[in-house]
Amino acid sequence: MWEIATNFTEVLGALLALLWGLAARWPGRVLVWSGLLAVVVQVVLVGLTWPTGWDYVSNRVVLALPLMLAPAALVVVVSLPRLEPRWPVHAAAVGALLDFYVVFVDRPAPPYTVNVIVLWAILLGATGLLWWRQGRIRALPVLAVVVVVLGGAVFYLQRASVLPDRLDMASMTNLDWGGGPVGTGHEHAMRNVTDLTGPSGRPDAAFTLVAQEKRITLSSGATVDAWTFNGQVPGPELRVRQGDLVQVTLVNHLKSEGVTVHWHGLDVPDAEDGVAGVTQDAVRPGGTYVYRFRATQAGSFWYHTHQDSYLAVDRGLFGPLTVLPPEATGLDLPVMAHEWTTPQGVRTAFGTSDTQRRVAVAPGTPVRLRLINTSDNTVWGAADKDPRTFVLTGTPFTVAAIDGTDLVGPTPLRDVRLPMGVGGRYDLTFTMPGHPVRLTDLADPGGGLLLGEGPAPAVRSDLPDFDPAGYGAGVRSPFKAFDRRFKLILDDGPAFYDGSLSFPSTINNLLFPDTPTLMVREGDAVETTFVNRGHNDHPMHLHGHHALVLSRNGEPVRSWWTDSLEILPGQTYTVAFHADNPGVWMDHCHNLKHAFQGMVMHLAYEGVHSPFQVGHKTINRPE
Ligand code: C2O
Ligand code: CU
Repeated sequence: MWEIATNFTEVLGALLALLWGLAARWPGRVLVWSGLLAVVVQVVLVGLTWPTGWDYVSNRVVLALPLMLAPAALVVVVSLPRLEPRWPVHAAAVGALLDFYVVFVDRPAPPYTVNVIVLWAILLGATGLLWWRQGRIRALPVLAVVVVVLGGAVFYLQRASVLPDRLDMASMTNLDWGGGPVGTGHEHAMRNVTDLTGPSGRPDAAFTLVAQEKRITLSSGATVDAWTFNGQVPGPELRVRQGDLVQVTLVNHLKSEGVTVHWHGLDVPDAEDGVAGVTQDAVRPGGTYVYRFRATQAGSFWYHTHQDSYLAVDRGLFGPLTVLPPEATGLDLPVMAHEWTTPQGVRTAFGTSDTQRRVAVAPGTPVRLRLINTSDNTVWGAADKDPRTFVLTGTPFTVAAIDGTDLVGPTPLRDVRLPMGVGGRYDLTFTMPGHPVRLTDLADPGGGLLLGEGPAPAVRSDLPDFDPAGYGAGVRSPFKAFDRRFKLILDDGPAFYDGSLSFPSTINNLLFPDTPTLMVREGDAVETTFVNRGHNDHPMHLHGHHALVLSRNGEPVRSWWTDSLEILPGQTYTVAFHADNPGVWMDHCHNLKHAFQGMVMHLAYEGVHSPFQVGHKTINRPE
């Protein structure tokens, strides 16, 4: 409901401006009354979206509607019934156009002070001019002025959106202190990101990852010119025991591409986080880099490059990272859901299996499938807002863990669909029955993973969605009071980014590097609220921390710890985390195309300094 109504409110202003324009040119009752009717419809539509929450209508109520209503009222009072004078009708066209500009093009986020001043100055100025000329304004000169002003604005915006050649991570200007004590920013840094390293000593588990090009053949025979770790996609599973000191040596044998390794979901020390331009420089071809961290969290994680990640993760620079608890038994299998670009088209796959793959499992075996969604859902023009959806058929099962953290009191499930945001992980556990069990990606109902002997069970897609918000007993929140609260409005609209025009997704109507840097002090309890006011889903991923989900759309949930939270259009989530891992951390949408187009911000601890740079003249392109 919200989505349909809100989408209509975005375009109605343009339609109305056209109606008023025609009515001013060819005055007639039908046009004028249609215009007035459209105004009423706009008010009703905004009324329909009102219950979704103030954050979803504030831009309409505070900014857009008054611009439309005030001149429309003038038409009623001054120009009816004879439709003379005509200037109020012209003014109404200007007001409707401004409404369209606000809700469709500009999409401002609070506070709206500057927007109010500018928009009303335009409306009042135009109305004054029209009144002075009695609405008899010649179209050609007006058109010429509009074209010159608009052209100038577009040219300026295009130039201004080009990213700088060199941007110091330490020079971000939009610092948000979340209502807590304001500190010194980055200037008086006591600690450097590069000092925040993992422990020294002899590693319990040591791996080498070699980034290299390789042509990969999927099970269907389709081929991928992949970028791989160790010549395989996904990269080798790094399987360690909880508590292990892990050492990974990265070697870059790619011909002309930098690489890093980020440990998605593992809250490692900042210098080990593997983000080009934030925690290290991208490793150049021929270079190496050593990561060290202690694997304190048992659970399902994954690793991937964080250099050109939109391009490079898609092409294969990722793999599973499993931290086993001491008591692990049975079949324990990471399943990485990916989509590959091949000359034969896009292939939906688990790993490299884009056809059905069978695995023998003896009945009675405890099974844990570590389902990991690695696939950017914006790459292939699929509807951005649809999360990938999986079905496990043939057995009751539990979602034992989400995002590498065990749930409290999960209960058996059956006949549900599992929608998952990008970057997220669900651990599905069950005891192998005497007949086959099948895991399917609904994007490819014929494929998937088949466990056990016998005919594959049929897959149904008409099932209710699994919803973690109402599942299990929920974590009892350890948060009492908050030192800082942040609010982030997610939206999308037409804009330039780095010189090109597209439909980027924004945070508080800003794109990196203008997005806010969330500033905290070590020890803070931090609350963050995400409001998705746009058209796309945004799996928001904060590095270095797990956040506890507290509420959705104002309703309390069965809380769970997350590091990749799927936020659908029309959803507001409030989460909380402890600022207990000092550093400068990326916080971004894991629909990597969105990140690539500027949906990136950072969490920074007061007094911690990143010496790294991003920008066209540096090697670092983390997105
Ligand atoms: Cu999966 Cu910023 O990463
Ligand atoms: Cu996004």
